[in-house]
Amino acid sequence: MKIIFIGPPGSGKGTQAKRLASRLAVPHISTGDMLREAVAAGTPVGQKAASIMASGALVPDDVMIEIINDRLAQPDAQKGFILDGFPRTLVQAEKLDGLVGNGKSELRVLQLLVPDDAIVRRITLRRTCPQCGAIYHLENSRPASDSVCDRDGVEVIARPDDNEEAVRKRLDVFHRDTVPVASYYKAKSILREVDGIGPVDEVFERIEKSLAHGSS
Ligand code: AP5
Repeated sequence: MKIIFIGPPGSGKGTQAKRLASRLAVPHISTGDMLREAVAAGTPVGQKAASIMASGALVPDDVMIEIINDRLAQPDAQKGFILDGFPRTLVQAEKLDGLVGNGKSELRVLQLLVPDDAIVRRITLRRTCPQCGAIYHLENSRPASDSVCDRDGVEVIARPDDNEEAVRKRLDVFHRDTVPVASYYKAKSILREVDGIGPVDEVFERIEKSLAHGSS
């Protein structure tokens, strides 16, 4: 299975992609996580990306394409993968076609539909574990102890781009650059739209049904 998640910031891509990857036993490849690791490690890519990400803008296509090219060449990605956060522009989508083949049987694209007015609340109350990447929400899915990760006891944090100003910028960027990517896949009849509102378990069920029944 080669699956792409598309959706606005905070729509639940990371939450659902982790779960689906575990269910299908394929790697969860999140470009946002990879960039945050590069920032934390202080690599040249990380140094370039840090301020761009904090502002809510997109990291340049050539940087992202090189990252994803390298990652998809790894042995664990040969049996399939869940892509979360890539492609985000038409240039990235066209490059990805070249990497994975654009036949209908190769790729499924899931677009999580969440209206903008629900996004800001989701994101400003999100906390993540800087060590294992676990995602929490201070209302919907709190860690057992308010401030530390259930898995490894590390203090959970708000991401630097999870303030209201950056979220609004990320939403603008999504509508301008990434909605056309969804249309690109719709035209190829490989896009499935999934309602992203409701409990996480229910959204996951919709995703599984959508993949099983092939409805779009
Ligand atoms: P990235 O990390 O990909 O951020 P994003 O797309 O903005 O998405 P988020 O991670 O914010 O949200 P999500 O949809 O994963 O939601 P989550 O599951 O966490 O990218 C960050 C930055 O990196 C970009 O802005 C850009 O600068 C750069 N970048 C990355 N890829 C790039 C690319 N390809 N090209 C160029 N630049 C790139 O859920 C959010 C919250 O909601 C959580 O608290 C969660 O618990 C909660 N939640 C989840 N589901 C539900 C539900 N059903 N009901 C209620 N709450 C829910």
